[in-house]
Amino acid sequence: MGYISVAIDGPSGAGKSTVARAAAARLGYVYVDTGAMYRAIGLAVCRRGISGEDADGIAAVLPEIDIRLAYQDGAQHVLLNGEDVSDAIRTPEIAYYASKVSAVPAVRQFLLEAQRDMAKKGNILMDGRDIGTVILPDAPVKIFLTASAETRAERRYLELIGKGQQVTRESVLHDVVERDRQDMSRAVAPLKQAEDAVLLDTSKMTLDESIEAVLQIIRKKIED
Ligand code: DC
Repeated sequence: MGYISVAIDGPSGAGKSTVARAAAARLGYVYVDTGAMYRAIGLAVCRRGISGEDADGIAAVLPEIDIRLAYQDGAQHVLLNGEDVSDAIRTPEIAYYASKVSAVPAVRQFLLEAQRDMAKKGNILMDGRDIGTVILPDAPVKIFLTASAETRAERRYLELIGKGQQVTRESVLHDVVERDRQDMSRAVAPLKQAEDAVLLDTSKMTLDESIEAVLQIIRKKIED
């Protein structure tokens, strides 16, 4: 029997990563956070002083980049050319760069193979924007996890404040809406719900309720 892949897609701040990580741990699956891979490329581009608008410049950096996901005590670490950048990629500036690089076709192609390879090596739960539509179209379980923009902005605001970053509610909401717009309107692999994905709106759910709902969807699909 082949391995099972669970694809979870949705907009930024829907709680995807937290929910997906917890659900993967409960199922004993490897969790793959594909957003972190785009962020690592965004960081590499930012550090080289290349503009987010310079698609050719961004594509030219790819041969110099090696991205790996490593797992220590169940936690995912992102390695950019061997350097652990797990914390460095979690800033609003790098989120902006990640969104920009993710619209460049060469970047998506670069990560497509890497992500498909991961799904061949074991049971995985992969989260992103195009996992159910492009990366793993045959995944037996697909979930589109979303929440209202206001809910998502509030969650991200609390997360950033918790990390000691100086942000305002207004600026976070603005960033969320802007990133939704960029992610949904780009020409290549835009954010959209796969036809066979189950829609889960977590606006009115606690984190625990969201995790339970995801686990229920997965178990039901797998048992069918
Ligand atoms: O989920 P995140 O905020 O870490 O994602 C960072 C950016 O990467 C976001 O703007 C969307 C993009 N992304 C993507 O285009 N495709 C994916 N599979 C995952 C993320």
